[in-house]
Amino acid sequence: MKKLIVANWKLYVNRSDQALKLLKSTVRASKMGSGVKIVICAPFLMVPTVNAIIKRSSISTGAQNLSEGTQGAFTGEVSAHLLKDYGVEYVIIGHSERRYIFDETDEVVVQKLIAASKEGLKPILCVGEQKRVGNWKKTLLNQVSASIKGLDKKYIAKLIIAYEPVWAIGTGNADTPQDAKEAIIEIRKVLARRIGSKAAANIRMLYGGSVTSKNIANFISSAEIGGALIGRASTNPKDFALIIKKTALLK
Ligand code: PGA
Repeated sequence: MKKLIVANWKLYVNRSDQALKLLKSTVRASKMGSGVKIVICAPFLMVPTVNAIIKRSSISTGAQNLSEGTQGAFTGEVSAHLLKDYGVEYVIIGHSERRYIFDETDEVVVQKLIAASKEGLKPILCVGEQKRVGNWKKTLLNQVSASIKGLDKKYIAKLIIAYEPVWAIGTGNADTPQDAKEAIIEIRKVLARRIGSKAAANIRMLYGGSVTSKNIANFISSAEIGGALIGRASTNPKDFALIIKKTALLK
């Protein structure tokens, strides 16, 4: 299976000229090998620009968030339907910055997963413990269960899950590949209890948190880890091109 590299630009990219430059270098890098699938999650307003530049490449468009509401009086929100209509294929849901800066609860995360799934978007569900202290695995697995509570089995089976320890995001302090792998194995067990081990084995699991061109290979060379969700390093044209190259060349 091809590895999946998800670029989460956050608000690190906040100028149109910066976006153009980054997109062009990413398209060039994507031609280095066919063993990698790339998704770019830009700020909403940049979606048409992303679509225009990636048009003849194998890159896909993603969004960083969406509304759990479908239509109506929700000032400032963007619905799943609108994303689909504008050519978005993937959407990040439950990122820790949404959970802890914007107070998104597990219940809201579930509603967003339903909204995205019903519209045929591919949700990338983020989970991760805030601190690696005490019984952190239990905290993590409780969050996983709560984030898919009541979600239809057929939707769970289609999720992409990004394991992102919060303490590793944006800190330059990535998890060890071994611990990330072990956490991912535990997460998969939680999924298996809901949808069976065969279906759970097919769910793509990503690692996220201070991934760079220097450490990417250590994470994704494991069969358990199907790719990476990358913030800061995905907004540096040189570093991101190198990440793509290393992923594409992975045997
Ligand atoms: P980072 O962000 O790569 O800058 O740590 C990861 C993420 O938030 O998904």
